[in-house]
Amino acid sequence: MRSLIDILDFSVSELDELIAVAEDIMETPEKYNEKCKNKKLATLFFEPSTRTRLSFEAAMIELGGNVIGFSEASSSSASKGESMADTAKIISCYADIMAIRHPLEGAPLVASNNATVPVINAGDGGHNHPTQTLADLLTIHRKMGRLNNLTVGFCGDLLYGRTVHSLISALSRYEGIKVVLISPGELKLPDYVKEEVLEKCNMEFIETESLEDAIGKLDILYMTRIQRERFADIEQYERLKDSYVLDVEKMKHAKEKMAVLHPLPRVNEISVEVDSDPRACYFEQALCGKFIRMALILKLLSEKDYKKENKDVVTDEFICKNDRCITTVEQELKQAFKKTDKGTYRCIYCDREV
Ligand code: CP
Repeated sequence: MRSLIDILDFSVSELDELIAVAEDIMETPEKYNEKCKNKKLATLFFEPSTRTRLSFEAAMIELGGNVIGFSEASSSSASKGESMADTAKIISCYADIMAIRHPLEGAPLVASNNATVPVINAGDGGHNHPTQTLADLLTIHRKMGRLNNLTVGFCGDLLYGRTVHSLISALSRYEGIKVVLISPGELKLPDYVKEEVLEKCNMEFIETESLEDAIGKLDILYMTRIQRERFADIEQYERLKDSYVLDVEKMKHAKEKMAVLHPLPRVNEISVEVDSDPRACYFEQALCGKFIRMALILKLLSEKDYKKENKDVVTDEFICKNDRCITTVEQELKQAFKKTDKGTYRCIYCDREV
């Protein structure tokens, strides 16, 4: 059985294969409209969503399958205290595959350790969002014709931006990627992504607070929302929320072929006037999300005999201090830490270093 919890669960050739299948579905959708006949997808959304949940549901319906699920925690038995582990065991009785979004980091991993059907991480807290990354890769591939030799700027909330963390991990697999990290000092990329991905893979990167200085060098500009829901201090959010606004004036300094991506939803960070610029790709990116999720569902349902190799050295001798980690809530869950290359330990659920 195969799940997708982290984008690194897939090799480059598997990412390329998913992109090729998604592009084939776009060309010849009729070939695929009975591929999931009699199959059920469960969408378990403990956090709000428009694109991810509805594109998963549309994907399964267009594959000829059916969908069950819920769109808020309050309508599930989690509100009565049911654990993620038990929820995953129960849903395995009713569905052939499940997609989970959860505010706690590591919740989809707990689900996949307890489910008997494939589990897809549809976003866990400020940690990862691998299916958004698949949509991003498909969009970049369609716009630029390649996934290597690109200068990619990430702008906005790089601290809590789970889509940013997953896309940087995915791009670390490709040659010639340069990364420009554009954020306020308080919302810089977490150290674990810098150390475990950028530095480990010798990726060229710079950090800056100025979108104006960076924009002219970029092939891809990946804008992100400052995420109100992740801030403990609302005054800090109010101070930072309008740090970056991409407008027509700034676009004048961008390359003619630069592509603007945004996982959406947007608030103020891209002016609506930019929508009519041919370089604005974010609505097409949302459409790509449906096709790549179709390809993903097909892949995971076809790999029943897959066995994941786990080479991590794991210990339970610490306690995770991240209050957004699933281990803070699931009392029965054992603490588990993996050893990093530099000899430190990280929680296997949320990646927080001890
Ligand atoms: N990009 C994304 O995850 O959007 P939703 O929150 O609407 O699913």
